[in-house]
Amino acid sequence: MTDYNIKYTDYQQAFECVLTKFCDGLNCKPDILAESLKYSLQLGGKRIRPVLMLAVGDLLGLNRERLLNYALALELIHTYSLIHDDLPEMDNDDFRRGKPSNHKVFGTGNAILAGDGLLNTAYSILFSECFNGNDNVSAAKYICDCAGINGMIAGQSADLSQENSQNVDEEMLDFIYENKTAKLIMAAVVTPSILCGGKYYSELRAFSRDLGYLFQLTDDILDVEGSFEKLGKSIGKDGTEGKYTGIKLYGLDGCKIQADLLAERCVKILEGLDGDTDFLKGLAYFVRQRIY
Ligand code: IPE
Ligand code: IPE
Ligand code: MG
Ligand code: MG
Ligand code: MG
Repeated sequence: MTDYNIKYTDYQQAFECVLTKFCDGLNCKPDILAESLKYSLQLGGKRIRPVLMLAVGDLLGLNRERLLNYALALELIHTYSLIHDDLPEMDNDDFRRGKPSNHKVFGTGNAILAGDGLLNTAYSILFSECFNGNDNVSAAKYICDCAGINGMIAGQSADLSQENSQNVDEEMLDFIYENKTAKLIMAAVVTPSILCGGKYYSELRAFSRDLGYLFQLTDDILDVEGSFEKLGKSIGKDGTEGKYTGIKLYGLDGCKIQADLLAERCVKILEGLDGDTDFLKGLAYFVRQRIY
């Protein structure tokens, strides 16, 4: 295993411990509610947002314990966004993380409630952190704003309303990418900075915006040339659903050129920071080259 893989696994395992404890402690009724929450949370997934948060925490010298609840809240929000994203009235996707989507197992009504439940629980976790002082209030608010109507929800709304749009322009694509995807990646990276009194705030904000944009670009590329076995979700649907993607604007080769540029930009920003940024650089290259 490379150093990068060892570190990724270490961050991932630290997060899985917290998530398992959370799932084991869920005691809501009726049973179907707890089952549907656990189903989506425990299907797997890369956990890239928690991994990023813990890695940036290490770069800034932050005690890992201070971040674990933020990482949990963010992964709950991300998982809720996936459950709702897959609903028949949104992307109508039958598979997620290699298994039938939440609504295929529990029905649409229960899937909506599972998503709502994850979001509410994330807020409750974030509120609890606010008792620890002002930086925690700012960090919690940042995550809420990234998830909200000027963040992920705005991107998802534009993504839906632009379906089958004939005109594709860069400004709209930027809006969709930045909000539906980059904002939750920004939440992961900027939260540790806020908890460190704003250390490298603007650099980390710029880095995470580019990384988030790159993440959606490679997601769109994988929808064309990825595989169901590796991704755990249906491919080729962006085209059939008329989604407003990078592919539509730049073409497949154009997307790859953009992706190379973005990965280089991410690395360049990291080179301007003191400390060991090798893992984060490796993560930017992983996002560029990923096949899952
Ligand atoms: C999928 O996110 C949705 C996008 C923002 C493209 P991930 O690719 O991080 O999904 P999981 O968590 O690994 O399943
Ligand atoms: C999803 O974008 C972004 C969010 C869930 C917020 P996509 O719709 O492209 O993600 P996948 O391809 O279904 O994972
Ligand atoms: Mg979508
Ligand atoms: Mg989708
Ligand atoms: Mg996609």
